[in-house]
Amino acid sequence: MSCQYNFLFLFLCGFAVLTVSIKTCGKEILEGTSCTIKLITKNSEKPDEIEWYHLTSDTIVLLWKRGKIKKVVEGVSKEEDGSLTFKSVSLKDTGKYKYKAFNNDGTEIGTGEEEIQVYVKAPKPTVTFDCDADSNATLTCDTGNRTDLTLFWYIDTIVQNETNPQMFLTFTQIQKNQTYSCSVSNPVSNEQSESIPVLCHTGHTGPTGPTGPTEPTGPTEPTGYDPGPDTEVSGSKFNFMVSILAGGGAFLLLLCVLIICACRSCRQQKKHQQGESRLDHLKLCSEYLHGQ
Ligand SMILES: *[C@@H]1O[C@H](CO)[C@@H](O)[C@H](O)[C@H]1NC(C)=O
Ligand SMILES: *[C@@H]1O[C@H](CO)[C@@H](O)[C@H](O)[C@H]1NC(C)=O
Ligand SMILES: *[C@@H]1O[C@H](CO)[C@@H](O)[C@H](O)[C@H]1NC(C)=O
Ligand SMILES: *[C@@H]1O[C@H](CO)[C@@H](O)[C@H](O)[C@H]1NC(C)=O
Repeated sequence: MSCQYNFLFLFLCGFAVLTVSIKTCGKEILEGTSCTIKLITKNSEKPDEIEWYHLTSDTIVLLWKRGKIKKVVEGVSKEEDGSLTFKSVSLKDTGKYKYKAFNNDGTEIGTGEEEIQVYVKAPKPTVTFDCDADSNATLTCDTGNRTDLTLFWYIDTIVQNETNPQMFLTFTQIQKNQTYSCSVSNPVSNEQSESIPVLCHTGHTGPTGPTGPTEPTGPTEPTGYDPGPDTEVSGSKFNFMVSILAGGGAFLLLLCVLIICACRSCRQQKKHQQGESRLDHLKLCSEYLHGQ
């Protein structure tokens, strides 16, 4: 029955990896992520009593004593070792957390503080422009009036020293036929607008009124997605997160492949042993997968 052990081994492995991979809350977290703040005790002693506080809002988040939850706020849970897990962090979870752990004779065996900052994902901005009578233009980077973001302007692919949501262009600058885009970022996300050309009618026919085509007029190829030197810095953490997520996906894929392989070898083994029909083995395998 080595095939049974194969499966047991696989499941234990998978379970262990998944358990370990519960994400620890970093200092900066994207809204909606699930993560854990670790509780550490002296000599990893098992606590008998645990208290978790959110200092910023002066609330008790979790009280646990002798295996019983005495108090817990919505959206958090206690790990086996006393660590605090958020199902899905929101803006109001921002701030400082403090824990205390005691053993069964009331001695404090661990205490610590952790600060987290939750960010909402940056929206994809859009660039619009208005022309004045002299064919100067004012570009606006629309971020849905979010004020918690760092903004950069790009001309073609070059990042500008301009962080206001509006940028003024003179007639002469517009004549260079360049494309304009803006990017917004916070420590956990980064979005860049489409690159648009700016076309203001040359003033020879007099004021044609502010023409502000919000749609990019020509179907310009999405140029300028090469992130400039400045976004590379702010985007690096984001990229790091993406790579972690990708890693998780790769792991799941690997697990699937392993399970399929085990399933096949299981089928073959059984075939040798009893020579039953193929369908029965498939059924057997799927029963292992579901039943375990
Ligand atoms: C257009 O820009 C030029 C150069 O900055 C400026 O002298 C002129 O007053 C501007 N025109 C309008 C209508 O603001
Ligand atoms: C955001 O913009 C909308 C219009 O687009 C406006 O009605 C609203 O008052 C703005 N909110 C803030 C906080 O500025
Ligand atoms: C960017 O602009 C600010 C003020 O607008 C100025 O103090 C700073 O020197 C500029 N930096 C560069 C690299 O041009
Ligand atoms: C910009 O485009 C206009 C018409 O499309 C053209 O006449 C002008 O020479 C171009 N300017 C540059 C700097 O390429």
